[in-house]
Amino acid sequence: MNRPGRLLRLRVNGHIREVYCRDAATLLDVLREECGLTGTKRGCDLGTCGCCAIQVEGEPTLSCLTLAAEVEGKDLRTIEGLAEAERFAPLQEAWADAGASQCGFCSPGFLMTADALLARNPSPSRVEIREALAGNLCRCTGYVKIVDAVEKCAREGSS
Ligand code: FES
Ligand code: FES
Repeated sequence: MNRPGRLLRLRVNGHIREVYCRDAATLLDVLREECGLTGTKRGCDLGTCGCCAIQVEGEPTLSCLTLAAEVEGKDLRTIEGLAEAERFAPLQEAWADAGASQCGFCSPGFLMTADALLARNPSPSRVEIREALAGNLCRCTGYVKIVDAVEKCAREGSS
């Protein structure tokens, strides 16, 4: 019996993944349910919380608002691709040092958005950090420690 849908070849964290999915499957659905990459979180599923942010060609992108089929062949990077050789990335270390995670649910989206900021602007001001992270919501931290973490990473080296 034919299944409705399509075969996609996605490039995620440098690896090709072939997935079969519905035509209307979102990138968030495919990452979590077909690729098993559950570090990317489903918050609102409406484009308002930033929990599902990943990088597409280096740009922060809400995976809940993106069709998986739109990004076939593009370079996708999720939180699982941020750490290098099973070590935390400097930005993740700064997050831990600054106490920028409490429940941690928002952290993957913040980290991927902040990493993209530091790639294009290695020395952002606190205002620029806040502007870049304006689409990411956190219910726990009050945001100050998150901005501290990005600033600390920028001050101490590459993300
Ligand atoms: S889950 Fe995508 S913005 Fe909230
Ligand atoms: S640390 Fe809990 S939502 Fe941000």
